[in-house]
Amino acid sequence: MRILVTGGAGFIGSNFVHYWLDHHGDDKIIVYDLLTYAGCLESLDDVRERITFVQGDICDPVLVQDTLKEYQVDMVVNFAAESHNSLAILDPGKFFRTNVLGTQTLLEAARQVGLSRFHHVSTCEVYGDLDLDSKEEFTEESPYRPRTPYNAAKAGADHAVRAYVSTFGLDATITNCANNYGPYQFPEKVIPLFATNAMDGKLLPLYASTRNRREWLHVIDHCRAIDSVLLKGRAGETYHVGSGIEADIEEIADIVLGVLGKPASLKTIVPDRPGHDRRYRLDWTKLRNELGWEPTIAFEEGMAETVRWYENNRAWWEPLKQRAPVSEESWKTS
Ligand SMILES: NC(=O)c1ccc[n+]([C@@H]2O[C@H](COP(=O)([O-])OP(=O)(O)OC[C@H]3O[C@@H](n4cnc5c(N)ncnc54)[C@H](O)[C@@H]3O)[C@@H](O)[C@H]2O)c1
Repeated sequence: MRILVTGGAGFIGSNFVHYWLDHHGDDKIIVYDLLTYAGCLESLDDVRERITFVQGDICDPVLVQDTLKEYQVDMVVNFAAESHNSLAILDPGKFFRTNVLGTQTLLEAARQVGLSRFHHVSTCEVYGDLDLDSKEEFTEESPYRPRTPYNAAKAGADHAVRAYVSTFGLDATITNCANNYGPYQFPEKVIPLFATNAMDGKLLPLYASTRNRREWLHVIDHCRAIDSVLLKGRAGETYHVGSGIEADIEEIADIVLGVLGKPASLKTIVPDRPGHDRRYRLDWTKLRNELGWEPTIAFEEGMAETVRWYENNRAWWEPLKQRAPVSEESWKTS
């Protein structure tokens, strides 16, 4: 099998490449990535000899199509996206361009060339947010109610995938996943941001709505879910990938500080970013019942191992800190 992994130099994409080579070692992986500030080829250093790398934009229809043809790609897994909610507030246009038009460009190339499967990686955030005390969980049938430029652009991409399924009969699947944590995450995102700040005795910026919480899943469990859907999921279907494990920002800070043995005084409150969603929670019964997937990595152990990974891989994250485009201390309250 020949699989094109777009965004394979990013957090989840690079974990997916490692995972896939570990579990399907005979397959050919082609990583297609623009290497934006968030892309990091060093995340693939240990497997560079085993993959093909193409530096390119998913919005480039010629290069996308040429790449699919040249490497006789069977399947595409689309991770490529602008993914940072905070940056989307400063530069929303970039998010709609990459996440919506980029996905449509890939879909069109897939339609022209013919693939056995196009898999699109999406997020719980397309459904909007929940009250903190709500008993509701988002199902695959829940209405889309995105509230931020990032999640609206991801919603647009999901609609494009479904349009290509129903209009052109493209064999495509979607997974909407909860928040991921694990190694190789750009240190702008909350867990590596907290871990790397704490290591250097810097403050951990907690949004003022400290009770807002997220559902957390280890990135390798996410990769296992994509594996199941890619190989066994029904064409045209969407599957939720959740964990049921929720933690608010203060709990995350406390876990990180606890693992590193750093003081609670490093926590500092900053204004919420505009449009800060309160909570998301996915119902992932369909994935469990149809494909037998469930998470395998316990949250406390996964978090401890993740924080230790950042502690042991300073050479990986230190250069990236300089290129993070957003400072979380800078949001205005008005
Ligand atoms: N991180 C999470 O918790 C999470 C949860 C659910 C879904 N997702 C989705 O998973 C996917 C991967 O997320 P991530 O956290 O790994 O993101 P990331 O920002 O770490 O990686 C994105 C990658 O895409 C590349 N990229 C960006 N624009 C591109 C373009 N125009 N052409 C080609 N490559 C481009 C970047 O260089 C980078 O390597 C995204 O689609 C995201 O929406 C993420």
